[in-house]
Amino acid sequence: MKARRRVVTGPGRKVASGRERSADVARLPPPPRPGPDRTTRVTPTARPTPLVIPAAEVDLAVDLGRGLVLPNPILVASGTFGYGVEYGDVVDVDRLGGICCKGTTLKARIGNPTPRVTETPGGMLNSIGLQNPGVDAVIEKYAAAWATWRTPVLVNVAGESVHDYVEVARRLDGLPGVAGIELNISCPNVGRGGLQFAIDAAAAAEVTAAVRRATDLPLLVKLSPNVADIRPIARAIADAGADALTAINTLSGIAVAPGRKRPLLGNIYGGLSGPAIKPIALRVVYEAAQVVSIPVIGIGGVTDLADVLDFLAVGAVAVQVGTAIFADPTLPVRLVDELAEACGRQGVATYRDLIGTALPSKAGLPSAKGVEYRP
Ligand SMILES: Cc1cc2nc3c(=O)[nH]c(=O)nc-3n(C[C@H](O)[C@H](O)[C@H](O)COP(=O)(O)O)c2cc1C
Repeated sequence: MKARRRVVTGPGRKVASGRERSADVARLPPPPRPGPDRTTRVTPTARPTPLVIPAAEVDLAVDLGRGLVLPNPILVASGTFGYGVEYGDVVDVDRLGGICCKGTTLKARIGNPTPRVTETPGGMLNSIGLQNPGVDAVIEKYAAAWATWRTPVLVNVAGESVHDYVEVARRLDGLPGVAGIELNISCPNVGRGGLQFAIDAAAAAEVTAAVRRATDLPLLVKLSPNVADIRPIARAIADAGADALTAINTLSGIAVAPGRKRPLLGNIYGGLSGPAIKPIALRVVYEAAQVVSIPVIGIGGVTDLADVLDFLAVGAVAVQVGTAIFADPTLPVRLVDELAEACGRQGVATYRDLIGTALPSKAGLPSAKGVEYRP
């Protein structure tokens, strides 16, 4: 079958091919024009636009409520930055907006069978299986270091029952070094036939409300993209007392082993992350931001400043960088500088002016259409 439209992906850019460029792709950058001009003329080096406001004077602070103020809107995503201390030699962790540490459970977990990770086009699949030493060991090993940092550390909490989540939250409550909790609710609720909390509004609300009662810590709840409609779930979590939403966790996927006799990952299923999921993450943030009044933090495929600006435009107040850290652990700190400089060049005194610029001006209209996809 002949493709109706071809979109060529180049390094960091997506361009539509010439003849088939139509109205729906018209806003993409034009393809490079081959011809004598480009081969015979030396293109002058682009000079950076001078800063209208010095980058150091741009206000990057993010107030997530309940006393949690991030120094800037660039966080590192759970599972991709360990407990933070591992990166101390490579990254100035105190320049980050926040650290979401590795998923932490009540008891130690050895994780899933290997292989646990594989590369995919534009991303990776992982099935780590929440390997961690358990909340008590995490507190003993890391909390003292966290308490010396300016950067807030949010402990990413996972569990198999509401009780698990509540117990972990209780142990973290009031602990120096713990600035907040991020609930990973993309976990099977063992008491309810293994249905993930995140895919059911009532279960998501139940676990959120129970943790809310157990702690005064700022409470972020992480949305799963593996649902047909995120809006009722986002609303239920907000109504249950979450201080902020984070979106998104990975998408469920599989890979096939060499020889094609079985799936590749030891756990069969893995979570897809990286640039491949960014459009989905943008869509979830866009939809969630329109139905809740609590802040939404965007995650999924952030690899450069343009990605950060895209998430802000669809309503995220901050972003988390995940998979891209494996290729370049220094990226998140660089993004902090680049965001401040971009604001400075535009004469924007606070990055908050960039939030929600791509949201509909008439609240509610696109949401009413739902998530239907019309090709
Ligand atoms: C290796 C790996 C481990 C992860 N572990 C967790 C985890 O323990 N808890 C959690 O909420 N998310 C976890 N995630 C999901 C990320 O925090 C993030 O939501 C997702 O990868 C999408 O962002 P990205 O495309 O920038 O990686 C993990 C992701 C990866 C790649």
